[in-house]
Amino acid sequence: MSPVRTVLVVGAGAMGSQIAMVCANAGFDVTCTDLDRSALDRAGEMLRTRMDSSVAKGRITAEQRDAAFDRLTLSTDRDTAARTADLVIEAAVEKLDVKRALFAELSAIAPTTAILASNSSSFVPSAMASAVSHPERFCNLHFFNPALVMRCVEVVRGPQTSDATMATATAFVEEIGKTAVVLEKEIPGFVANRILGAVRDEAIHLLEGGYADVEAIDTACRTALGYPMGPFELMDLTGIDIGYLVKKQRFADSGDPADAPADSVTRLVDRGDLGRKTGRGWYVYSDSGEKVAVNPL
Ligand SMILES: NC(=O)c1ccc[n+]([C@@H]2O[C@H](COP(=O)([O-])OP(=O)(O)OC[C@H]3O[C@@H](n4cnc5c(N)ncnc54)[C@H](O)[C@@H]3O)[C@@H](O)[C@H]2O)c1
Repeated sequence: MSPVRTVLVVGAGAMGSQIAMVCANAGFDVTCTDLDRSALDRAGEMLRTRMDSSVAKGRITAEQRDAAFDRLTLSTDRDTAARTADLVIEAAVEKLDVKRALFAELSAIAPTTAILASNSSSFVPSAMASAVSHPERFCNLHFFNPALVMRCVEVVRGPQTSDATMATATAFVEEIGKTAVVLEKEIPGFVANRILGAVRDEAIHLLEGGYADVEAIDTACRTALGYPMGPFELMDLTGIDIGYLVKKQRFADSGDPADAPADSVTRLVDRGDLGRKTGRGWYVYSDSGEKVAVNPL
């Protein structure tokens, strides 16, 4: 069992709110904090709806829901909670300077035994651990969206992360009912998103080379590989601009043309065809959300 009893989640957006609820559901005392009071109010409403729906579907009892909410505090007072936290999970905005400043402040307030963890999708532990006083207690705990549902949590070791921190973080992930995937060495993108990216790159290569069209490639992934949706369908769902910006940043960092966004993706982003959210991406969507195959190029 991990020594963690009290958790502080910093950031009450899409990820932080659900991570906090997952921890409260598993019996931990949790404070979820945000700079923005309205983000906390929105998180509270959204979590109420989700938990009420779980009760209605018979997945949990009303008593379990109420007990979980009793363990969850939504507050703008970060520092009071930080003073007694055994584990801090940062899920604030994806900006390195914000995260480094947050961790510098938190490491000065939290107990020296506390583990500091980031949910960042793109920054590796060493990019943030150098801002804290005990980098051996720093790791990434990378949850997937939606955190209430997705089972995987990547536990990422930085160059200074101690064995004890990795053991506690991994045990904690199992205690909240998730499946820990341990990375013994940091690498941008970690495991799942790197594999997803490789599949996406190959799908675009096949399309741009004229080997198969969007629908054929998606169909192969669904019917031969058992994917719940094809790579083009997934890009349309998550937003084509998201992957584009990640690649642009990676290219800026590495200078390797293999890291640059593909021509077809750049064309769609330039046209503002970003996927479902704009009604057009690799596919065209009707007002009711039905998809129509087109030639996007
Ligand atoms: N959205 C995803 O699919 C996803 C998946 C895995 C990991 N992540 C990572 O999780 C983190 C949060 O992403 P999100 O999608 O929940 O973002 P979001 O924009 O929905 O929420 C971020 C929240 O952080 C708050 N915030 C910003 N600066 C803060 C500060 N200094 N102190 C306290 N709160 C602050 C904002 O007010 C906002 O409510 C990012 O690092 C992101 O890379 C996101």
